[in-house]
Amino acid sequence: MKTKILVTGGTGYIGSHTVVELQNAGYDVVIVDNLSNSSADVVDGIERITGIRPAFEKLDCNDFEGMKAMFAKYEGIKGIIHFAASKAVGESVQKPLLYYRNNFVSLLNLLELMPQFGVEGIVFSSSCTVYGQPDILPVTENAPIKPAMSPYGNTKQVCEEIIKDTIYSGVPYKSIILRYFNPIGAHPSVEIGELPNGVPQNLIPFVTQTAIGVREKLSVYGDDYNTPDGSCIRDYINVVDLSKAHVIAVDRMLQGKTKQDVEIFNLGTGRGLSVLEILKTFEQVSGVKLNYQVVGRRDGDIEQVWANPDWANNELGWTAKETVEDTLLSAWKWQLKLREKGIM
Ligand code: NAD
Ligand code: WQD
Repeated sequence: MKTKILVTGGTGYIGSHTVVELQNAGYDVVIVDNLSNSSADVVDGIERITGIRPAFEKLDCNDFEGMKAMFAKYEGIKGIIHFAASKAVGESVQKPLLYYRNNFVSLLNLLELMPQFGVEGIVFSSSCTVYGQPDILPVTENAPIKPAMSPYGNTKQVCEEIIKDTIYSGVPYKSIILRYFNPIGAHPSVEIGELPNGVPQNLIPFVTQTAIGVREKLSVYGDDYNTPDGSCIRDYINVVDLSKAHVIAVDRMLQGKTKQDVEIFNLGTGRGLSVLEILKTFEQVSGVKLNYQVVGRRDGDIEQVWANPDWANNELGWTAKETVEDTLLSAWKWQLKLREKGIM
């Protein structure tokens, strides 16, 4: 019998790509998503790629009784990947209580229900945002956690603490915390990808929407940073590569291979790229000239951050494989597909 995994936020951007990889690896997936930032059509895309339709429940992870009934319905869930969260940094400054409620209560409900239903482990979506501006680059998992720059960032820091405190209290399950750098791109099948709500805050969706003419001009937030070309540097990680790390983490947890009850891994490429390098590469692979203008710095931006992925490379046996060229091309093909479907 296949091992059953609950994927919260499974119709979202990273969640949907991970469901594909889990099903390809032979797992039986139950998706719980309240569709606050995604569409149920994503389930069709997953089915078209894998030939398997995952179970889908439109449900809010904050609904304790609903979640309890879901665990009872899908008896035998062995592991959870918890993606469901609100994730827009700017919005979190405007609506902190929404962010604290959504991101904390959903996690608390899962942690409380896990032992009642014999769930053995939870993988948690954290972020490189917990490092702020690191003193030493590339940043390792042991780098100090810096004061959060936003309520969103704070929820990731505190969720990590909640998981550690709970596990160290002696509960019968384990956790792997994955700190993502900047996930980008879309599935090569072009069946699933990122669907930003409204005006994108993240660089790549803004780039592809500018290239296709939905946005008139891209603003580059600063070229006076202390970096080789003056623009900010990030570690852009292909979303399929990122998703594959979740399958390895689930295998590791459920096969009893973890070395600590809570493990933390950076998921990045180990390579930092500047905003201007990204724009140039996008223009090369897409053949589209981007209309952009350098403007002032964006409040709260980190100057430069990229991962030291050695721990994930050596311990998980996972490495980011896709090139940034192929990844940007996949983002562009996804944008063209959205246009073809009349979505954007
Ligand atoms: P996303 O918004 O595309 O996916 C999140 C999904 O969770 C959405 O489908 C949304 O409808 C759902 N959701 C939100 N609150 C819910 C709730 N209470 N109950 C049920 N479903 C709920 O975001 P994503 O980019 O796929 O991010 C997934 C996770 O990874 C999040 O926890 C995010 O904070 C984290 N993360 C994302 C990035 C990034 O840049 N995308 C970077 C680091 C960490
Ligand atoms: C990347 C670079 C911008 C848009 C955010 C969250 C972080 C994480 C990932 C979840 C920066 C520049 C952007 C634009 C630009 N999410 N930029 N013009 O800021 O690294 O991280 O998403 O955990 O928590 O803070 O990603 O894609 O917004 O920006 O010049 O229109 O692109 O200044 O240097 P960021 P991003």
